[in-house]
Amino acid sequence: MPIHHAKAGLARFARVFAANRLALAGGRAQIAPVMATSVSVSNLFRPAPQTRARPLAAARWLEIVAALVVLIVLVGGITRLTESGLSITEWNVVSGILPPLTESAWQAEFAKYRLTAEYRMESGPAGMDLAAFKFIFFWEWFHRILGRVIGLAFLLPLIGFAAWRAIPPGYGWRLMAMFALICGQGALGWYMVSSGVGNTDLTDVSHFRLSAHLLTALFLLAGLVWTSRDLRRLAADPAARPAPLTGASALVAGVLFVQLLLGAWVAGLNAGHAAYDWPLMNGRLVPQVDWSGGVLWTLTHDPFLIQFLHRWWAFVAVAALVWLARRVRRADRFANIAVHTAFGTMVLLGIATVMSGVSLWIAAAHQLVGALTVAATVRAMHSDGLARRAA
Ligand code: HEM
Repeated sequence: MPIHHAKAGLARFARVFAANRLALAGGRAQIAPVMATSVSVSNLFRPAPQTRARPLAAARWLEIVAALVVLIVLVGGITRLTESGLSITEWNVVSGILPPLTESAWQAEFAKYRLTAEYRMESGPAGMDLAAFKFIFFWEWFHRILGRVIGLAFLLPLIGFAAWRAIPPGYGWRLMAMFALICGQGALGWYMVSSGVGNTDLTDVSHFRLSAHLLTALFLLAGLVWTSRDLRRLAADPAARPAPLTGASALVAGVLFVQLLLGAWVAGLNAGHAAYDWPLMNGRLVPQVDWSGGVLWTLTHDPFLIQFLHRWWAFVAVAALVWLARRVRRADRFANIAVHTAFGTMVLLGIATVMSGVSLWIAAAHQLVGALTVAATVRAMHSDGLARRAA
């Protein structure tokens, strides 16, 4: 090694060493700026310096939360299909974490459930005992526990990212909006359950509230997938901008939204039981519908009409999804395959749900793949935005 290189290297080493000693000696002065990084909401909006932003870690965190949301959608479907949703008649965010632990606590919980119209008119006459009550209680309790887990799985890392100012510029408000959605979802869930407990003769929750609860979960999932895609791009290229929403993607999202809404109403009205044959409905191509309540009421309440619309609008949704998948087939082959697989499975499971007389596991799988269809579609929409901007 030439002598002047060695000298320069030694000088650099000495400078770094001296700086480190200074840092150690005046530890407080060096450490203070880090400690002073307070956990405050304003940290979410203060741009993180390039060196501190952690887009890849943030993307992975959001993907984990997205997986938890898919799981809770499945568990929510099982809760609904096993008629478990009204088994917990109160909303206690903290004290509700533990299930009843003693025999008398179980009896007290069962006594509260026995006051509901669902018990008086349906499960009671069907002979529900404490063991059967414990089964339905489990699903509702598990669903609510998962809701809390999602809240914490979002909030705790959010605090960590904010404290270390590791949130990339421009993402703070999005993360806050998603956290607000998670909190709102808990409140909406209770608003839904409250329509079937207390002083009411309803044996089921309102199908409007049920659809709002399901669609909000799917909207949150969409936000998580979209934002994690943006963050992954940012990790690969620090100059990357968030993907725009194209007109085509907005149109596809609108068509899919109608299908998801109709599906949620079919579920909420138990309209899957309106007909068990396919493609005919009770032997007819177009079912007999009683329009005497008016067009709007019939369109939003009649189980035959809503099942009919859901089973055939599916093919409009399929056409829209094929179009979107084709648009991104070069830019994102994975999304192309995922969208095709998702809607194909969805249609087959939908038909199987009808023909099996709404069998629990087939219907639950339909709900699970519904969430995966949303995730695949959002990924394709995101790639469509990037591809159009690059074109
Ligand atoms: C792109 C295609 C489809 C999408 C995105 C879709 C979406 C949905 C969604 C979100 C629900 C509510 C939750 C649940 O899954 O139970 C639902 C329910 C339902 N769907 Fe579909 N669906 C599709 C196709 C179909 C088809 C083709 C049929 C029948 C021929 C069908 C029959 C049903 C039935 C019977 C329910 C109620 C099931 C229950 O009570 O749990 N779906 N659908």
